[in-house]
Amino acid sequence: PRVAVIVVAAGSGTRLRARAPKAFVAVGAESMLCHALHGIAAVSSENPLQTVIVVPPGYEDAALDDARAALPSSEDLVSVTPGGATRQESVAAGLARIAPQVEIVLVHDAARALTPPEVYARVIAAVKGGAAGVVPVVPVVDTIKRVEAGRVVAAVDRSVLSAAQTPQGFDRAVLDAAYAEASDDFTDDAALVAAAGHDVVAVEGDPMAFKITTPADLDRAHALVAPRER
Ligand code: CTP
Ligand code: MG
Repeated sequence: PRVAVIVVAAGSGTRLRARAPKAFVAVGAESMLCHALHGIAAVSSENPLQTVIVVPPGYEDAALDDARAALPSSEDLVSVTPGGATRQESVAAGLARIAPQVEIVLVHDAARALTPPEVYARVIAAVKGGAAGVVPVVPVVDTIKRVEAGRVVAAVDRSVLSAAQTPQGFDRAVLDAAYAEASDDFTDDAALVAAAGHDVVAVEGDPMAFKITTPADLDRAHALVAPRER
């Protein structure tokens, strides 16, 4: 395939405080990872994607089971690899498994389990259109303040701010080179690619691509999938 997706699922989920690593926590009948893979299956129906799932060591078989359930027709395009201590290390581990012919690499958080296929389509289209890096974004809804030592220093103009989501998409050569150079710990791949000097463009994200981080987020995800599963 020309397009690959790295699904990073190797985090422990400290803030969620569940018994299992976050990506293996159930939302309704299926794990977060499985939900995320269903989104990829919908994208893959026309053009199959190489899918690399990055998991905590010891969770390789659990991830393969999820992949068989969600991506039955493209099992040979799926691989599972152990991640690292940081998200950046986990992405690097996934990148090492990308097939030689792949030209576009997406990086997706398993924790954004309910991301609609349309977001993938917008990101892939923008990379195909020539962008080095692409980030789906949604408007910031809260009023944002700069707070220093407990004092509100200034309001920040919300209209120039956006919240970044995943999947983020990249020209494969750009992402490989940016990762080979990267030293600092970046919070997302777009920041790492921008720091390497490349332009990153924004496309429309989706509220359903929210990241499940806290127990309240998990409750919300449960409520969203419950009607589907009934
Ligand atoms: N991730 C990863 N490897 C890590 C850390 C994070 O693959 N060492 C992945 C997570 O599995 C998740 C995504 O990166 O899908 C976004 O990270 P986050 O939401 O912060 O997940 P966790 O790090 O697991 O959660 P927490 O920060 O609360 O511990
Ligand atoms: Mg984290």
